Parts: sequence; structure tokens; C-alpha cells
Amino acid sequence: MIDFDSFRSLLMSDRTVRRFRQDIPVDTDTLRRLVELTRYCASGRNAQPLRYVIINTPEMCAKVFPQLKWAGYYTDWDGPQVGERPAAYLIQCLDTHFGPNCLCDDGLQLQAITLGAETLGLGACIIKAFNAPTLAADLGIDSRYQPRYVLALGQPREKVVIENMDGTDEADFKYFRTPDEVHHVPKRPLDELILTT
Ligand SMILES: Cc1cc2nc3c(=O)[nH]c(=O)nc-3n(C[C@H](O)[C@H](O)[C@H](O)COP(=O)(O)O)c2cc1C
Repeated sequence: MIDFDSFRSLLMSDRTVRRFRQDIPVDTDTLRRLVELTRYCASGRNAQPLRYVIINTPEMCAKVFPQLKWAGYYTDWDGPQVGERPAAYLIQCLDTHFGPNCLCDDGLQLQAITLGAETLGLGACIIKAFNAPTLAADLGIDSRYQPRYVLALGQPREKVVIENMDGTDEADFKYFRTPDEVHHVPKRPLDELILTT
């Protein structure tokens, strides 16, 4: 059984990565292992309505990339350049046969996958800002399955560090990049997260 400090360390190292080693493939077996982790996630009504499309060839990756929006706060950055783009994607889809929503199953499963990816040395970026209808059409996804999230994956090519926010309402929560190309992610302090009544 993993101990608390190891689990905390894993969560701390599981940062969003947006620049990858595009030249290092992520094989299908690895992606299947990551999807397999989702079997053990909690699920509203235990309906388990989420499915995944595995994308890991350069041709298929080239279909996915143009539909994605990266790092909304970086207004002068259009996303990773050729050579630093994801080597793989998982397209998380809702099987509408089981209803029109999935409560929070989507987030739980994405977190399980990113944590699993981190243990394998893979970086990940959860992406909500994407053109779902075009992506579904380009990939030939049946209309029964609605793309909910795209998870970009690959060997990380950037350094990401956590910054401790100062705990005031005015504190800036926007991530930022320094001239040394390090991506900084502000996180709120514990005492700000706990309400006192
Ligand atoms: C629900 C959700 C949607 C997100 N959508 C995007 C997105 O569309 N594009 C992007 O570049 N990052 C996206 N992200 C990544 C967040 O920007 C990132 O999680 C946040 O900056 C905190 O960084 P961290 O993951 O390293 O803690 C998303 C994350 C979550 C949880």
C-alpha cells in the first residue's frame, strides 16, 4: 500500500505539461494500461459511461492537434511547436446511451490517468478547450459518443514548478512562464481552502 507522503509527492509532481518530446512515441499498450486505471474509479450510479479513443500515430495526432486550445493565459503562445507536440492523446467520450451527463466521473478518471502517466514518466495536459464536433467528425467518432475531454500525453519537455500563493483574495492564480522557460503554477495555501464557520 502506498503511504500518504508518497501519494502526496505523486500529486505534487503530477503537473500539467504542454511541451513534449514529440519524437518519443507512446505505445498502445501503455495507453491501454492508463485507460485500465479508470476501471477502478468511483462512478455516479456506477454506470461507467466513459470511453476512450486512443491516438498515437503521427497521422492521427496531426488530426487532433489543430482542434486544441492551449494555455489560455499565454495569449502570445499558440501552443507547442512542431517537435514539442504531444506524441499521443486519449479522447474521453461520454456514451450517451447511459444518459446525457456523467456527474464528476470525467474528472475522477482524468486524474487517475494523469497520476498513472506520471508514474510512467509521462506528462499530460487535460484539455477542455477544443472543437468537439470537428474532432468527432475528423476521427469518425459515432454520434452516440460525445468527446468531453482531450488528454494530451508524451514525454515532458518542460519544467513545471508549484508556487505558493499568499492566501489573499487578490493573489494572482494565473500560471506564468519565466525567461528560463520554466512554467510556474500558483497554488492556494491550505488555510485558504478550509472555511471556518
Ligand atoms: C477541467 C480542466 C480543463 C482544462 N482545460 C485546459 C485547456 O483547454 N487547455 C489547456 O492548455 N489546459 C487546460 N487545463 C489545464 C489547467 O490549465 C491546469 O490544470 C492548471 O493551470 C493548473 O496546473 P496544474 O495542472 O499543473 O496544477 C485544464 C485543466 C482542467 C482540470
